[in-house]
Amino acid sequence: MTEVSVAKEEVAATGDLVVLKSVNKHFGALHVLQDVDLTIARGEVVVVIGPSGSGKSTLCRTVNRLETIDAGTITIDGRPLPQEGKELARLRADVGMVFQSFNLFAHKTVLENVMLGQIKVRKADRKQAEVKARALLDRVGVGTQADKYPAQLSGGQQQRVAIARALAMDPKVMLFDEPTSALDPEMINEVLEVMQQLARDGMTMIVVTHEMGFARSAANRVVFMADGRIVEQATPDQFFSNPSSDRAKDFLSKILHH
Ligand SMILES: Nc1ncnc2c1ncn2[C@@H]1O[C@H](COP(=O)(O)OP(=O)(O)OP(=O)(O)O)[C@@H](O)[C@H]1O
Ligand SMILES: [Mg+2]
Repeated sequence: MTEVSVAKEEVAATGDLVVLKSVNKHFGALHVLQDVDLTIARGEVVVVIGPSGSGKSTLCRTVNRLETIDAGTITIDGRPLPQEGKELARLRADVGMVFQSFNLFAHKTVLENVMLGQIKVRKADRKQAEVKARALLDRVGVGTQADKYPAQLSGGQQQRVAIARALAMDPKVMLFDEPTSALDPEMINEVLEVMQQLARDGMTMIVVTHEMGFARSAANRVVFMADGRIVEQATPDQFFSNPSSDRAKDFLSKILHH
């Protein structure tokens, strides 16, 4: 048993970090993920786009097991997603997630927000957690806001705190589900810049976004979803200049000319 998992880890260490195979998911009668196969290499940045309701958020949520799947397998770094318990808590910590709404703890300071998971899940002591939290807050450009409460920050600042909080767990992969959709236009870039830097630093990222500039400059690959299926995948250059499916052509003409 141990030998098998060691061997798997060695395989994983050379390449694939997140692997979905034949993943299927229903919400009642709605078949929301249909035979989804997706492999994400270590250090790869994948942008997921597609029409509303195509299953992008559900896909993200299955990867850190906020949603269960009906069939198929998902492995992170060679390990299948655990069903529940401590293993699942650890797995969740390996998969950082940033949502459209910032989901910070309103009654905790910015600093405490970034320290909490380190202490509770990673068992860091307070001092270590604080040093790391301050360094991460500096890295995302909100170091001077550490002692404020989330409501005292702008949306762009709160989202950067949410990114720092996820990074504090030393995740193997970061999932972003429309991280800039709730932001005023002038705050979008400050969040995208932090994500760009993260991509340059080699973080493995799955990013659901309609920010095509980000997709073009930061993504290694664009995955286009429609009706619960991955319809096509390509490099950003290929995808934006020459999408192969009618669904993607139609989608692009709508979002690029609005
Ligand atoms: N908890 C749920 N219960 C029932 N149906 C759901 C649930 N969550 C999502 N759905 C449905 O599953 C489908 C896919 O939803 P999902 O949120 O994954 O789409 P999306 O691609 O992220 O869309 P958007 O671009 O609007 O965020 C939609 O039809 C949605 O209504
Ligand atoms: Mg969504």
